[in-house]
Amino acid sequence: MLTATRPTRLAVLISGGGSNLRALLDATTADPGFGGEVVVVGADRGGAAGLEHAHTAGVPEVVEELTAGADAATRTAWEHRLAEGLAAYDPDVVVLAGFMRILSGGFLERWPDRVLNTHPSLLPAFRGAHAVRAALAHGVKVTGCTVHLVDEEVDHGPILAQEAVPVLPGDTETTLHERIKVVEHRLLPACVRALCHDRVRVLGRHAEVDLAGHRSAPPE
Ligand code: GRF
Repeated sequence: MLTATRPTRLAVLISGGGSNLRALLDATTADPGFGGEVVVVGADRGGAAGLEHAHTAGVPEVVEELTAGADAATRTAWEHRLAEGLAAYDPDVVVLAGFMRILSGGFLERWPDRVLNTHPSLLPAFRGAHAVRAALAHGVKVTGCTVHLVDEEVDHGPILAQEAVPVLPGDTETTLHERIKVVEHRLLPACVRALCHDRVRVLGRHAEVDLAGHRSAPPE
């Protein structure tokens, strides 16, 4: 584990349905060799449906709401409260699993190279909050998902893993996003597991990741 003396402690941040949180909870509990456990779930909305997964799993929740159009000082104070709320559970790693807020250096420096995000496109294509819609609008035939370390630029940090997903005729934003999520549910836990086992090396933009045991393509 990261500290060698205890399972890696994971904080997971969500804003929405939380299917990636669910996948992480399932992976950490089903695999005795995962090397990590979800110790807290954070959200920026009390109504985030995914909080139900934390509740069911008996994982503590930290909810810090941020009103739309908040000024810089309000955002900084919100981010500080969120970081402090998570820190009370002493996490080693923070996983952004559909968390629709941008975190600044003030947050990230508390967990250097230990904040991950999953994004529903093959970065650097289609950064931002509407990646699936943008990929469809552009007419690409292949998109996918990216798991990366978070830096201060949106959807930008060193890439840990990517996997392609085909765009099929007749796809809507919903059908394509659901197909991408199926892959995310496998790729995100695989990357988190690698981090738990200290099998990630970062050199500038380049991350070397040993996804031992990870199947890179779905079964036939
Ligand atoms: C995922 O596709 C993630 O990449 C994006 O938001 C979606 C969250 O889905 N940032 P869920 O809440 O985990 O179901």
